[in-house]
Amino acid sequence: MSRCLVTRDLPGEALTRLRRDHEVEVWPRSTPPTPQALRELAADCDGLICMLSDSVDADLIAGADRLRAIANYAVGVDNIDLDAARARGIQVGNTPDILTDSTADLTMALILACARRLVEARNTVLEGRWLTWEPAGLLGMELRDRVLGIVGYGRIGRAVAHRAEAFGMRIAHTGSDRVGLHELIATADVLTLHCPLTPTTRHLIDARALSAMKPGAILINTARGPIVDGRALADALRRGTLSAAGLDVTDPEPLPADDPLLGAPNLLALPHIGSATHAARGKMADYAVDNLLAALDGREMPHRVA
Ligand code: DGY
Repeated sequence: MSRCLVTRDLPGEALTRLRRDHEVEVWPRSTPPTPQALRELAADCDGLICMLSDSVDADLIAGADRLRAIANYAVGVDNIDLDAARARGIQVGNTPDILTDSTADLTMALILACARRLVEARNTVLEGRWLTWEPAGLLGMELRDRVLGIVGYGRIGRAVAHRAEAFGMRIAHTGSDRVGLHELIATADVLTLHCPLTPTTRHLIDARALSAMKPGAILINTARGPIVDGRALADALRRGTLSAAGLDVTDPEPLPADDPLLGAPNLLALPHIGSATHAARGKMADYAVDNLLAALDGREMPHRVA
């Protein structure tokens, strides 16, 4: 019997399967353990199921002598030091495919909400400022024939393209030989980010990239917050270079109350809910447990990334 730590209670029955053969400790709170608490708890564990909000860094890995398996309850694994895990022969797994549709749906929701100014429109109603039907009131962007620039043309990028095509958008993406990132940024009416967070993509969308975007364009990020320089984005929104930004992810998460982004106009920020559907979160729990069970049993994780 191995000892497993799970850093948050998971939806569905997946943890029941893990408990059948292993001793399982579940972090009891809805907020994450502090880095120190996580290091202490992981120190005598064989297996770890962690969230994208848990930093599984080289220190934690060095202090967890027995650790053999890390199953991230997410598809992105930027919270885990993969090199440190590889060096120790610890398998690392993620939850691919099953949150593609939920994240692509949410991306379309953000595109539509920004293009049609839903937050302003809603506030107009709620704040008693809806006086009449106005011929030129709250005019937004129609999606047909607009260019959707997709940075990161993997599973989620493609699923967004598929949806956007149904709205008549023209798709350009970084996976094509013909379109470079600079051209994509300069020609997109809506730029949407679906690349992983790596040292190369950190602040990929910085002040320079934002100033190269088409006037009035919309930026959408449902990937990872640090891909966008938040201060530069707040400036671009204040100056009106962009017409709106829809973010499901920010840097940091959650944003502190005094973060400049929160006061920026035409910002629609959500609390990282891309995969927050009953279907996706239940399957993510199944995948994470499948990964952990396989590695603890000496087999290869079905969804192994390192
Ligand atoms: C992931 O799995 O990486 C997503 O960001 C979770 O919503």
